[in-house]
Amino acid sequence: MSDKKLFSSPATLNPPLGNLSAEKFLRDHWQKKPLLIRHAFPNFEAPLTIPEILTLAKREEAESRLIMRRDEIKIHGKNSGKHTDWQMQQGPFKTKDFRAAADSVWTLLIQDTQHFSHEAHQLLQRFNFIPYARIDDLMVSYAVKGGGVGPHFDSYDVFLLQGHGQRRWQISAQQDLRLQAERPLKILSHFKAEEEWLLNPGDMLYLPPGCAHHGVAETDDCVTWSIGFRAPSQQEITMGFLDYLRDEIKLDGQYQDDDLQMTSRPGEIGADMLLRVSKMLDEIRAAAADKKRLQQFLGRHFTEPKSHVYFDAPEKILSLRAFTKAAAAQGLMLDLQTRLLYDELSVFLNGEQLCNADSRNASWQTLADGRALSAVQFKAASPAAQALMYEAYCSGYIHLA
Ligand code: SIN
Ligand code: CO
Repeated sequence: MSDKKLFSSPATLNPPLGNLSAEKFLRDHWQKKPLLIRHAFPNFEAPLTIPEILTLAKREEAESRLIMRRDEIKIHGKNSGKHTDWQMQQGPFKTKDFRAAADSVWTLLIQDTQHFSHEAHQLLQRFNFIPYARIDDLMVSYAVKGGGVGPHFDSYDVFLLQGHGQRRWQISAQQDLRLQAERPLKILSHFKAEEEWLLNPGDMLYLPPGCAHHGVAETDDCVTWSIGFRAPSQQEITMGFLDYLRDEIKLDGQYQDDDLQMTSRPGEIGADMLLRVSKMLDEIRAAAADKKRLQQFLGRHFTEPKSHVYFDAPEKILSLRAFTKAAAAQGLMLDLQTRLLYDELSVFLNGEQLCNADSRNASWQTLADGRALSAVQFKAASPAAQALMYEAYCSGYIHLA
């Protein structure tokens, strides 16, 4: 894993879709139907080697899981037949954990590899024909022959890119999505493969949400890279918006009933009371229709780092002057974990809205799209925008390139 600072990951459109244009892919396949792309990455160069994947799985900050499958044939009694035992262990791992898994058919999964490797980050950047707000992570799976996570479906879109070795993918448009009970991972009870392909390094399979799939490693060195997307559930968005409103909204109205009529049923919550309360809640409806509020909520929500993400301030923080001089010579790059998005009004950085008017400066948008600023682009930024970049540098969100 290299820690060299690769300069820019420009937001150029060079989608790895074979002969298909991004427009055609989005029109005909995205969220609709699977697509196999042979040689999507001709001469694919893996961001991490197998020893680097194993080393990453030992790190505390990496979210890793080991899935172990043990098949047993019982030939006695009424339970005779094939029994499959699935186990899942969370990382970080020690060498002895891998040794202990050796009697099983195992798969190691690591999420968010783009946080740890510039090369992984650059691979994810190849999918920037889709908005960053929709992109989740680059997961890697490393499996021994026969390994896999069982037949299942995901609720988000995914590109499955074969990195090393071979994997056989089977897919199905089946409607029966019932899951096996009491398993540590989601496994379909009745998977009926309808199509299958053997993927070689550089081949890639796109699957829309809900498409049943089953990947089985055909070699002992099977590495698959999954480009996963974020599709927040309505529940998540609604809860997020209500949380946002709880912090933002200040209302001074009061329950009022100056036209109250006498009652012979004092125990009743009457229709008039419901109506009054419904009116009091009108502010929620109004807030959801208020573009500025929605923009603020979405910007913060989509840039909020995952809960296990931490940023380190630079060991030796430069003064604003020294930083400006260095950035004007070297340029800037976002930290691999940073989420930076913008809309027509503002810029959102790791869950915060940048309120300074100069955050609207085009240089912030260039930084968000390309995740880096060249020296020339930095020099073109206004002094106030540069000062804001300095603050982000002090928090560890931005680095000198
Ligand atoms: C894997 O790569 O083993 C699992 C990826 C997936 O099925 O989503
Ligand atoms: Co899947």
